[in-house]
Amino acid sequence: MSRHHGKEASNSVITIQKAKHEGRKLSMVTCYDASFARLVDRSGIDIVLVGDSLGNVIMGHEDTTQVTMNDMLHHSKAVSRVLRKPLLCVDMPFLSYQISPEQALDNAGRLIQQGGAQCVKLEGGRNLVPQVKKLVQAGIPVMGHLGLTPQKINTLGGYRIQGREEEQQKELIADAKALEDAGVFALVLELVPSELAKTVTDTLSIPTIGIGAGGHCDGQVLVLQDLLGFDEGFEPKFLKKYANLGALISESLARFDQEVKDGVFPSADHSFL
Ligand code: KIV
Repeated sequence: MSRHHGKEASNSVITIQKAKHEGRKLSMVTCYDASFARLVDRSGIDIVLVGDSLGNVIMGHEDTTQVTMNDMLHHSKAVSRVLRKPLLCVDMPFLSYQISPEQALDNAGRLIQQGGAQCVKLEGGRNLVPQVKKLVQAGIPVMGHLGLTPQKINTLGGYRIQGREEEQQKELIADAKALEDAGVFALVLELVPSELAKTVTDTLSIPTIGIGAGGHCDGQVLVLQDLLGFDEGFEPKFLKKYANLGALISESLARFDQEVKDGVFPSADHSFL
């Protein structure tokens, strides 16, 4: 069954934009594989992002700068094979779009054609207007990403809140407007003060989706493994954990280990006569 011919239509960029005008909040989570995509699909979540955060979460890198197009394609294929309802957005990795609008179109096209993406996300402001226009003209919807942009970690020097200074705030608002004018259909705001996120949200007619950007955004996004509590030691202020799966998984594995070593598993119930 293809994403677009299932019984229930999948969300589109049009349904996502309508939500803002109808005053409905949007939910978005990251997802990197088919096993989780099946679970997310049943949850009511509006948008799934195959984020380049897979560099940290799945591949064990320190940051996202080493993530490649092949990594993104590998994981978006896994998610798109089983996802039905949520809009599927895929991150363009570091240096897959910055070089030129043509390079951006070439790589975004691969994420759509080979990866099964319905839209792509890229990080940056006014400097990316030519890229955004090129993709939108070709029929590829683009989500923007401002505030903390993790692909610039080597320039930013750390994962800290952006836009505290007045000058930075003006820059961010100008970037947001430029991206909207260039045609992005939605905008992620990462790690910015709530009031700044509110100003951007009130200024734009496209939805804003916040992470560490307070409650005034039109939607919220979290990394799946973070909201499920995989890493007990990871507790940034913006994160709410909706489960404690890290502890549950460790406990379950320790019990399996013990039962195998004690000869308790498999019992007759789990054996063939
Ligand atoms: O890659 C990612 O997970 C993201 C979200 C934090 C928005 O870009």
